Amino acid sequence: MEVITQATAEQAVKLVSCLIEDRVKVKPDAVLGLATGRTMERVYAQLAMSAVSFKECTTFNLDEYIGLPSNDTQSYRHYMWEHFFSKVDIDIQNTFVPDGQATDLQQAATDFENAIDTAGGIDTQLLGIGVAGHIGFNEPLSSIMSRTRDKCLTPKTREQNAAMFGGDANKVPKRALTMGVGTILQARELILLATGSAKADIVARAVEGPITSMVSASSIQLHPNCKVIVDEEAAGCLQGREYYDFVFANEPEWERYR
Ligand code: F6R
Repeated sequence: MEVITQATAEQAVKLVSCLIEDRVKVKPDAVLGLATGRTMERVYAQLAMSAVSFKECTTFNLDEYIGLPSNDTQSYRHYMWEHFFSKVDIDIQNTFVPDGQATDLQQAATDFENAIDTAGGIDTQLLGIGVAGHIGFNEPLSSIMSRTRDKCLTPKTREQNAAMFGGDANKVPKRALTMGVGTILQARELILLATGSAKADIVARAVEGPITSMVSASSIQLHPNCKVIVDEEAAGCLQGREYYDFVFANEPEWERYR
């Protein structure tokens, strides 16, 4: 794992979008794993301005609320359309979001996993982190081997996402269909982005704490190709900061991004 701290959220976002652009330049038909949430809005805004073509890309989103119609403005399918898909040249047929409206959620989860396999697996998976330690909607006690399935959201997560539901946590759906931790770990590369002081404690627990299903984001420590990109505020509780900065300043692979 590498942890890269940028001075501002804007710079952290810029670095993440540069990495994604570069992956697509090298492999125009890249399979991208995508995340939603407020942190990612700026990444998509940046990517939408880039000259890179997403025409041949396939995308898989991490999660979707259960029970919200895809045209509901709070659904993640709608979020993706609004922030990204409608702004770039991607073929909408090649964009996959878990089907939170399915009558048979287990079948929808299996279909989603099969679609990832058919696409050849995810090349680069973008991740945010929730204050409850989740990646995707893998709430505490999510098995590190879990696959796509429905999951009950924690009160903390519903509180975190209340802003998108008029500030009322009770309006946030109680359940979601989410890629599993095991599904996420199968991607060939993980890029986790966190910004702001509210994420400082959970970022440190994910990066430096014990690997535990209580903090599903800590499972990224098991991944051989994982980059964590944070701003100063989100880096606030990291103990090993000096070394992480030294790696970023000296590793040749980061030269063009410094
Ligand atoms: C959403 C997702 C979540 C978010 C996380 C951070 O698809 O997978 O794990 O990335 O909850 O959300 P924000 O950026 O709103 O703090």
